[in-house]
Amino acid sequence: MDIMAHRGNSAYCPENTMASFRGAVEAAADFIELDVRLSKDGIPVVCHDATIKRTSNGKAFIHELTVDELKKYDFGSWFSSDFKGERIPTFEEVLQLVQHEPIRLNIETKNGPDMPMNLEVNTLELVYKYNMQDRVMYSSFDHFSLKRLYELDQSAKIGFIFHMNLINLFDYIANTGVPTYSIHPNHFYITEDMITKAHQRGIKVNAYTVNNRQWAEQYRNMGVDGLITNFPAEMKAL
Ligand code: G3P
Ligand code: CA
Repeated sequence: MDIMAHRGNSAYCPENTMASFRGAVEAAADFIELDVRLSKDGIPVVCHDATIKRTSNGKAFIHELTVDELKKYDFGSWFSSDFKGERIPTFEEVLQLVQHEPIRLNIETKNGPDMPMNLEVNTLELVYKYNMQDRVMYSSFDHFSLKRLYELDQSAKIGFIFHMNLINLFDYIANTGVPTYSIHPNHFYITEDMITKAHQRGIKVNAYTVNNRQWAEQYRNMGVDGLITNFPAEMKAL
């Protein structure tokens, strides 16, 4: 199974920070899973939420601040004083960190309906700038975003995230017209039938977010291809 470090080594470090990503590399995770959004000046930055309120000492929306403004905030202290002074990473900084490391990226695009459309363009440009196109995959709850990524790059590996049970899931995915590399269900919805149908179609199944050894072993035995987890070192040890 591929072990995907969810927001980095996020059980032990503030999520989506360089410290968390270095921790994922040290944990020998197969992938880092990270969330990208656009700053006011159109730079892909790494943050889960639309605002910086939960994970920094600021309050604004990401898209209301430039990178220089975002960099003024502390993204570490909310987690622990050991991480005081951690800054929001740009996506480019993450690429610079991992380009010479044996780790891949699962890039989750966080687009909202009011977000600029060029998140996908700007993200892809950076991936190609660092020659990382063969070491990344893209995933999103926003399936319009996945369609845009595919239209921009037909070789992109695309993963559909979904947090609910869908009737006729595989018909739904086929109808999007986006060749599907993987599905990323909330792990509570995974069934053996889903895994069988995915594998019959050449589609991988990556489960999120699996933080418990018992579940991890259950999904491994069911044939799940990847685990998205806050505990990459522990899951690798399994
Ligand atoms: O990859 C899916 C996983 O990250 C779950 O979504 O809310 O943590 O971005 P979220
Ligand atoms: Ca995510």
